[in-house]
Amino acid sequence: MNAHDTAPVPPPGCPAHGSGARVPLHGPEFAADPQAYYEYLRHYGAAAPVELAPGVEATLVTDYAAALQLLQDSGSFRKDARRWRAFNEGKVGPDSPVAPLLAYRPNCMFADGADHIRLRQAVTDSMARVDTRRLSRSTEQISGYLISQFGFRGSADLLGDYAKQLPLFVFNELFGCPADIGDRVLFGISGMFDGVNAEKATAVLFQAVGELVALKRDKPGEDVTSWLMRHEARLSDEEMVHQLALLLGAGAEPLRNLIGNTLHRLLTHERYAREGGLIDEALDDTLWENPPMSNYAPHYPAADTELAGHHLQAGDLVLVSFAAANTGPALRASRQAGSNRAHLAWSAGPHACPSKEPARHITVTAIEHLFNELPDVELAVPEDSLTWRPGPFNRALATLPARFTPVRSGRRGDPQPGTVTAERETAASPARPAERGGMWSQFLNWLTR
Ligand code: HEM
Repeated sequence: MNAHDTAPVPPPGCPAHGSGARVPLHGPEFAADPQAYYEYLRHYGAAAPVELAPGVEATLVTDYAAALQLLQDSGSFRKDARRWRAFNEGKVGPDSPVAPLLAYRPNCMFADGADHIRLRQAVTDSMARVDTRRLSRSTEQISGYLISQFGFRGSADLLGDYAKQLPLFVFNELFGCPADIGDRVLFGISGMFDGVNAEKATAVLFQAVGELVALKRDKPGEDVTSWLMRHEARLSDEEMVHQLALLLGAGAEPLRNLIGNTLHRLLTHERYAREGGLIDEALDDTLWENPPMSNYAPHYPAADTELAGHHLQAGDLVLVSFAAANTGPALRASRQAGSNRAHLAWSAGPHACPSKEPARHITVTAIEHLFNELPDVELAVPEDSLTWRPGPFNRALATLPARFTPVRSGRRGDPQPGTVTAERETAASPARPAERGGMWSQFLNWLTR
């Protein structure tokens, strides 16, 4: 352990402080003030012993240079989670709350070497074919639809009613989902992330994506599913299903939080006037200071090794704290010197996010459109009453209550200011699906009105 000379300041409520125990990243204390935890973790040196869930141990790299060393040395540090010793020894079970994000699946995130290159190339080539104008148009249509569902009320939870829904609808569009499959994709992916009946939700998602693959084999279209399928990597049906599920899983949650955290910044920092250019600036500041994926990039040393003076054993779980590396002293200095893109919010090295351009584009378009439609939108509660969801991986607001002048929708049949509506439908619990269809069917109906 490379303890610094100065005495560390314990984060508020940290049960590990002074006890020699690992620092827990799963409690409400960490969610309330992660930066205090990162500051404390830095006293261990470049990496620190943490706990991701009760009994799930990991080493968290908090230093920028050590993070880059790990992320760029794919010979020494592997992504294949079948190397995870604690999982193989049964110390962490498949029912652990961290298993959905850490346990092995046959997709490019958990692949190394030639397997990784083949799968990732298919993913990046297919995503690169997404036309930016089409993406803008569909993001605006989806934004318009979501706003039509709450704009008449004059208040909304911009997280639950907007940031959370929008990416899922965009993915349905990108993947070319017809109504019934799209409804089940929305149901499945929301349930998986909300932890509501997660096992059933996962089964529904994989069944729906499997049907989508069968449909596109028969009738390909101009969509990511068909491009992925026709790629020269010649993915099998099983590989198709797993890469599509990865795109949905790796995309939906961080994208929701990128929209949420950027909106939070724009609504709580006076210096951002609501103009196109400043949305970009708020987005960059969010990626630096409040990245949606705060601690991730799980890796496993191929053999016993050293990383920045820390001994690691083969099969140990090592993660990178993008949030801590971004805000550490080394990067703070380079940022002040004007290098605006050196943060690690998208990770780095061979597994860095392959979709940062579409993710940025969707985020800026979604926020611009919201501000155009609701020009006086403001936070409806004091900033310090906002809460963040617990969990070691994502930096995610629980809700973002906002108010604005109610707006009239130009579409026939949409609720108008003054309307009282029945209980709101959510993607995880489609209201009477047999009668009205799920949320994706309703959106497709709305488009044709
Ligand atoms: C359109 C939305 C998105 C899609 C489709 C997407 C897709 C992916 C995929 C497929 C990977 C795995 C790449 C590989 O292992 O080779 C990945 C990695 C990653 N993505 Fe994204 N992503 C999206 C949005 C985001 C956002 C908004 C963030 C946060 C700013 C983010 C941060 C990351 C990070 C940090 C990694 C590295 C994870 C690791 O090494 O384990 N992504 N993404």
